[in-house]
Amino acid sequence: SLVEKNGYKHHMLREIYEVPESLMRTLSSVQKKYLQLAARLVTGADNVYIIANGTSLHAGMVASYYFSELVGVNPVVVSAAEFPLYYLENIGPGSLVLAISQSGETGDVLSSLYEAKLRGATILGITNYVGSRLARLSNLYLPIAAGPELAVPATKTFTSTLLLLYLVALRASRQEGRIDEDTLNSKLAAVAEAARQLGEWLPKVDSEASKAANEVSECRGGYVVSRGLTYPLALEGALKLKEASYFHAEGVEAGEFKHGPFVLVEKGFGVVFVVPVEKVSAEATYPLVGMALEAGAKVVAVGFAGDQSLEALSEKGAAVVAAPPAERHLAPIVLAVPLQLLAYRLGERLSRPIDSPRYLTKAVTQ
Ligand code: AGP
Repeated sequence: SLVEKNGYKHHMLREIYEVPESLMRTLSSVQKKYLQLAARLVTGADNVYIIANGTSLHAGMVASYYFSELVGVNPVVVSAAEFPLYYLENIGPGSLVLAISQSGETGDVLSSLYEAKLRGATILGITNYVGSRLARLSNLYLPIAAGPELAVPATKTFTSTLLLLYLVALRASRQEGRIDEDTLNSKLAAVAEAARQLGEWLPKVDSEASKAANEVSECRGGYVVSRGLTYPLALEGALKLKEASYFHAEGVEAGEFKHGPFVLVEKGFGVVFVVPVEKVSAEATYPLVGMALEAGAKVVAVGFAGDQSLEALSEKGAAVVAAPPAERHLAPIVLAVPLQLLAYRLGERLSRPIDSPRYLTKAVTQ
């Protein structure tokens, strides 16, 4: 390949270790004037649709929390495979379609954009490839600037996409007068600090993730459970486990746990909890962790270091993976990394073809 693995066994591992520098590149690459334009498109639209597939769709789901909380805009987030079939009815000249695709070549995203454009919608593209068809079809595009990503399981493009969407939301929030300039600047400084800390913590997070991977390696399958801002991480963590380690996992929203999913939890089953960053939701989630442990499951708990309830779980038999604490809105970015490492280390332990899982391609163009 053109880009060396740089001493790492797989591209995926190298790309996870590149997350901190990739975040810094995203932060410094995107020009303020384009962020301002993007923010205006979001706040000025009659309706906003976010379309993407796979990991990029999960990033779009997080963005809907950002836009809703910081800007008061509630986008419809939908798989690009569904969009042209079921969502065109309300698309017109006042619509904004925010399309996310790291490759910029995903077939369903592109065909959705043709349809949306025909109806007069404005297209805001988010892509890692500035020469891609997505970039060319967009009225305005923002570069993810993560650098080339070669492993099929997306990692650093996910975290950088989340950051880019957060930057758009912050800028829109500022434009709407919801936050002042000082707040905006302190939030940007917090991003840089989170990236720096993540870089420092990576080896420790990795070794905890390796131990957790060993714990669940005999399990026949499992769940990744979370809620709120980090609920999309449950879906993303489950997708990473499938791709990198062929481990059957399902993302579950914590509030749904007792409404069915709990029935499968027993010895030989794994449950990964991503502790929600909302206090009330975290308090509602810890009892579920206890229930899963009591039912005999292998439990992995992912969250911020310094959370005493999280740390206490290791005494109860859970494998704890703690990431450096960060602002609530940065949780999806910071906590994505332990989940990526968990999937990677499990794939390594199970000798899976991590960088190129069978049947899958980096860009699904058809
Ligand atoms: C991610 O790990 C997957 N390989 C896949 O879900 C991917 O995110 C999806 O195909 C979308 O790709 P894109 O961002 O290039 O459009």
